[in-house]
Amino acid sequence: MTTNLPRLAILLSGRGSNMVALVEAVQRGVLQGVAEVAVVFSNKPDAPGLTTAAALGCPTASLAPEGRKRAEYDAAVVDLLQGYQPDYVVLAGYMRILSSVFVRAFAGRIVNIHPADTHQHQGLHAYEWAFENRLPETKITVHLVDEGLDTGPILAQAPVDLRGADTLAEVERRGLAVEHQLYANTLVQLIRQELPTPSIAERSATQH
Ligand code: GAR
Repeated sequence: MTTNLPRLAILLSGRGSNMVALVEAVQRGVLQGVAEVAVVFSNKPDAPGLTTAAALGCPTASLAPEGRKRAEYDAAVVDLLQGYQPDYVVLAGYMRILSSVFVRAFAGRIVNIHPADTHQHQGLHAYEWAFENRLPETKITVHLVDEGLDTGPILAQAPVDLRGADTLAEVERRGLAVEHQLYANTLVQLIRQELPTPSIAERSATQH
């Protein structure tokens, strides 16, 4: 059903548990009446998350990057996504570094969830990092995406208690449970403009 609600393009590369949490929040949770899902997109046509999204009734799309340079691929993805008229691009386990052509196309409207404090750990394998370092606590971060790797302004963080988590699977289980709540709740606040959100340009001006 098309409404006048803000439209989310959800991007994933794999399993899609964050996507499921967001779609469920749109269908019957905190995002109901707040946003709608425009499309679930993947750079991996065979990503399990795409099949799950279709089963949940979401429009889906994919484009494999093979053979294209990063900027060329990202320009094609921007074109594809623009066709769905998204208001926000929501990265949910989208395992690609975005080039400036992508970031500029949706400047200030790209959101990511990262399974660590982005001030402490960037990039992949954040739960492994927390587990190997025996951290008693880690933090889930939701942030706006700029042109760096996990450097954009933080919108929200939530702690994950890791005391007694003696396997990586348990660390991930606890972390994902927090991710699934935090992402939907933060998007609600972002859409309702309840968050202090420095623009990426303002932030750059103050930090450089
Ligand atoms: C999630 O833990 C997400 O935070 C992480 O990938 C996983 C995707 O799981 N993202 C990153 O590490 C980004 N740097 P999911 O496909 O089940 O949502």
